[in-house]
Amino acid sequence: MTELSLDLTFLRDLVRRESGIVLESGKDYLVSSRVTPVAHDLGYRGLSDLVRDLRHHPAARTTSRVVEALTTNETLWFRDLEPFAALRRVILPELVRARPARRVRLWSAACSSGQEPYSALMTAFETPDMMGIAVQMLATDLSAAMVERTREGRYSRVEVARGLGRERLMRWFVADGEHWRAGPELTAALSAKVVNLTRPLPVAEQQDVILLRNVLIYFDVETKREVLRRMRRVLAPDGYLMLGATESTVGLDDAWRPVAGLPGVYRPG
Ligand SMILES: C[S@@+](CC[C@H](N)C(=O)[O-])C[C@H]1O[C@@H](n2cnc3c(N)ncnc32)[C@H](O)[C@@H]1O
Repeated sequence: MTELSLDLTFLRDLVRRESGIVLESGKDYLVSSRVTPVAHDLGYRGLSDLVRDLRHHPAARTTSRVVEALTTNETLWFRDLEPFAALRRVILPELVRARPARRVRLWSAACSSGQEPYSALMTAFETPDMMGIAVQMLATDLSAAMVERTREGRYSRVEVARGLGRERLMRWFVADGEHWRAGPELTAALSAKVVNLTRPLPVAEQQDVILLRNVLIYFDVETKREVLRRMRRVLAPDGYLMLGATESTVGLDDAWRPVAGLPGVYRPG
């Protein structure tokens, strides 16, 4: 093995340990092309100097920067459409009927740059049954940079063009130079923080809906199982879990039952 391939193996192992993200050796080019700029940014001459330092003095900040660089943050507004229709048609009206406290808590557990939690919030505000119901959105991600972007809620023209639509842009966002910023109704209902799904969850309140979309795909089977188990502990017994279009609990955790007619939606049971 060359020194470079040993370094890349070290980085792949580090990322798996810290985040659950599995990168096979075929992804070495990706690891190298994403971590080298981080190395330069942190003042190292290159990737091998950064790895040498991490081997001997694994500083938390350097580790986080490397792990963040290897996350995939692809997202868009109202991704896949169907889950948001399910929220409006079935899930939110159902929860409102079951909630005398008139409060609904939503958690976007891998929120990336915020398109998912803001899309769910717009959906909640646009759902007629939700009139007079307090909505709280918790938006979390492993990446501190993504959490910061979500909190800021500021998007370029290219980003808003990916699924937001002119009507919603005008209704829920305010112009900010060349960018658009989430309006006060959206930001007031959202709190954002860093949460690593592969560690014990610092989420105190029971959630009514958990959006856990397009993140399990990056984990190995054992990590998927453990994350799904953790979700059961923070989801209300009559709550809903929403997975991504290619994800499922089947064969991983039998404690979830799919909701008929709503692909990707599960309830504890
Ligand atoms: C492809 S994005 C999905 C964004 C959004 N949920 C969607 O479906 O459009 C995956 C996100 O998962 C986050 N992620 C990866 N590993 C994680 C972990 N262990 N804990 C929390 N978030 C993680 C990444 O930082 C990234 O923002």
